[in-house]
Amino acid sequence: MDKKFISIVAAIMFFGSLLVLQGVFSQPDSITIDNPGLYATDKYQGAPFAHKKHADALKDCKKCHHTWKEGAKVKKCVDCHTKDSKLTAKKAFHANCRGCHRAMKKAGKPTGPTPCTKCHPKK
Ligand code: HEC
Ligand code: HEC
Ligand code: HEC
Ligand code: HEC
Repeated sequence: MDKKFISIVAAIMFFGSLLVLQGVFSQPDSITIDNPGLYATDKYQGAPFAHKKHADALKDCKKCHHTWKEGAKVKKCVDCHTKDSKLTAKKAFHANCRGCHRAMKKAGKPTGPTPCTKCHPKK
């Protein structure tokens, strides 16, 4: 086989594998968590969430994606935590987000906000 052919095949395999990895692992840099309609109230604006910063700082995806298995597709929290689930979406987000910030603050570590309007300004 000539060298050019091999390098083309190698390039296709390399970029192909990148695409596969992307499909499984590509995580958003930054999002706004906003699911109007999922709550009895709609008093607050969406909550900005620096996803990559959190993932880098915490290192463990399962601190939040607690049902996720290595290699599987990442499900959204609201796929399971809804208005009617045992642990509603509001409780799940508050327990996860505010719960961690509170615990870290108590432990004297640098962390995110705990006052209501620092996460989501009022409408
Ligand atoms: C660490 C961040 C954080 C803090 C602190 C926080 N929340 Fe939230 N809150 C969220 C997130 C994330 C959601 C889900 C937003 C969505 O899905 O639209 C939410 C949703 C809500 C909702 C339902 C949506 C709405 O607009 O009505 C209410 C009510 C709410 N929070 C009230 C509060 C109150 C009151 C406090 C303070 C005692 C508070 N939150 C503190 C992150 C936070
Ligand atoms: C501090 C909590 C937290 C950590 C740590 C975290 N994530 Fe997330 N991730 C979220 C939240 C919240 C969302 C918003 C979507 C939702 O409602 O589930 C999200 C969304 C995603 C999405 C998009 C899902 C979709 O369908 O929109 C992917 C992919 C993802 N995360 C992968 C990862 C990977 C991989 C890691 C580890 C390197 C990681 N996350 C670490 C909280 C976190
Ligand atoms: C595949 C479904 C599923 C997904 C996806 C999911 N959860 Fe859960 N979660 C559950 C179940 C089931 C429980 C147990 C409580 C219950 O029965 O509702 C739970 C419990 C929790 C708890 C209580 C403490 C604990 O760990 O047991 C928190 C907080 C929580 N989820 C937050 C989240 C957040 C934030 C996300 C997204 C980053 C998320 N969950 C994604 C199904 C899910
Ligand atoms: C397991 C712990 C943990 C969880 C869960 C967590 N955070 Fe944080 N959060 C942190 C830490 C640590 C920082 C400081 C990161 C830094 O500055 O490097 C932070 C910083 C922040 C900040 C301020 C800094 C910035 O750049 O935005 C906001 C806002 C925030 N978090 C919102 C959220 C929301 C919304 C959720 C839930 C979806 C969440 N956090 C879940 C640990 C956590």
